[in-house]
Amino acid sequence: MTTTDMSETKPPPAKFKPVHPRLVRYWHWINAFAILLMVGSGWRIYNASPIFKGFRFPNDWTIGAWLGGALQIHFAAMWLFVINGLVYLIYGVVSGHFRRAFLPLDPREFLRDFALALRGKLPHHIGSYNAVQRLFYIGVILAIVGVFVSGLAVWKPVQFQTLAALMGGYEGARIVHFLMMSAIVAFVLVHLTLVALVPKTLWPMLWGRARGEDEEGGQS
Ligand code: HEM
Repeated sequence: MTTTDMSETKPPPAKFKPVHPRLVRYWHWINAFAILLMVGSGWRIYNASPIFKGFRFPNDWTIGAWLGGALQIHFAAMWLFVINGLVYLIYGVVSGHFRRAFLPLDPREFLRDFALALRGKLPHHIGSYNAVQRLFYIGVILAIVGVFVSGLAVWKPVQFQTLAALMGGYEGARIVHFLMMSAIVAFVLVHLTLVALVPKTLWPMLWGRARGEDEEGGQS
């Protein structure tokens, strides 16, 4: 007769649980691709008429090979960036995803988590964002809206002259567009560093799920 000793049996494999909704994942990766094209081609366009005299981006870092090519890529990627972004914004508000994933925003919690992050002691639970992430994600979404609005004013300064006037005219809108782009690039540099430091966050953003023991409250 055989007996089954429970202490010798393997625990059942942890179940995979949903972390990132499909629409958020599609938005995220399409957005990353569109931003790469927009920033790379935008730097080439900037180089043709620099706002800050003496400052140009190295041509090797740009996309489009020449001004005309860069403009075509910028305007083509613009539609991908804007339509994809609008779908994410509407979904985020209507489904409650933004509220669940990014709120509340508590300055004390942010300072506590920021101090922990600087000391490399901020724990990361798959499926919920810490206060530093929440603020950074809201910040980059606002910068994305800002780069779009200022881009409209630079693209069609006559049709959107009121918008351009709010930013101090065409030249002012160019500066706002540049600053918003800089904020997005700064975010991406920090974002990629954090993903490299906590690589277990990458798979759920690709696949949508994580093992039960890693997961703490999925986002929807
Ligand atoms: C190849 C480049 C990128 C990688 C590898 C990457 C990776 C990730 C990962 C792993 C997460 C989930 C973090 C977690 O669960 O704690 C995430 C979330 C996020 N990322 Fe990225 N990311 C990239 C590019 C970008 C870009 C270009 C932006 C915007 C400018 C961006 C904005 C966001 C936002 C807003 C979220 C939160 C999404 C939500 O829950 O609604 N990412 N990213």
